[in-house]
Amino acid sequence: MKIAILSDIHGNVVALEAVLKDLQRQGNADHIVVPGDIFAFGPAPNEVLTVLQQLPNARFLMGNTDRYLLEGTYPSTPGSDDWQDKLLLSFRWTAERLGRDGLRFLETIPFSQVIQDGGRQLLAVHGSPKSDEDGLTVRTTAGDLEGMPIDPRVAIIACGHTHVPMDRIIGGVRVVNAGSVGLPFDGDPRACYVVISNLAANGYGPVQVEFRRVAYDVEKAVEQFYAVNYPAPDISAYNLRTGRSVGSSLIYTPEMRQTSVVSSQVSVSVARFPV
Ligand SMILES: [Fe+2]
Repeated sequence: MKIAILSDIHGNVVALEAVLKDLQRQGNADHIVVPGDIFAFGPAPNEVLTVLQQLPNARFLMGNTDRYLLEGTYPSTPGSDDWQDKLLLSFRWTAERLGRDGLRFLETIPFSQVIQDGGRQLLAVHGSPKSDEDGLTVRTTAGDLEGMPIDPRVAIIACGHTHVPMDRIIGGVRVVNAGSVGLPFDGDPRACYVVISNLAANGYGPVQVEFRRVAYDVEKAVEQFYAVNYPAPDISAYNLRTGRSVGSSLIYTPEMRQTSVVSSQVSVSVARFPV
């Protein structure tokens, strides 16, 4: 069984289409799991929704920014940097853009997803098994995972939220942070996703985790921000071009965005642009 993890698409349909094309070249996957943060901070939420709804084998779950859109309550930053206020204005823009049908889609998606293969499970969450706002990072300890709702059959936790790819074993569980398709923060502007195979293992070798980085037409995505009168196009252009988040953020703290030795050691396969 092959499982593709496409996290934190963030309304970037150019990156999403490049990733799907790359996945197709890899022979596709039995399951595509989308661990949340699907629409916010991107210029093309409706286009992303249309592409995702055409996938026959996709499972979705909710990220914190999806939840903010659904609840209509957005993080506020009184007195904070001007750029951040502008960025947070984009939640309202995204909700209006999605409209009733898009928000109805969000209502249907759960907090987590489980894929069973043989006696083993993959647990997909956005942040951690207990919170969509707590990322699993290089600092997460086995003690942190204790007390979280994790079935003993879970061999892999697949997550996102930090926008920084990571592959660690924490307390006997392999934790794979799939990074971000549409808004990477690890300094590499290419889209990031993960292909997991041999989850069941069954004595025939270890679970395989492949991180893939896919170059895509970043400038095309940047142009979309300006074309749709997005509230904070300059900030978004910087983020997409550099693969970094400008300044500090209530949503993505500096600690979450920390790139570590661990994350730089993940095996990465690269697709060349154009794909
Ligand atoms: Fe995110």
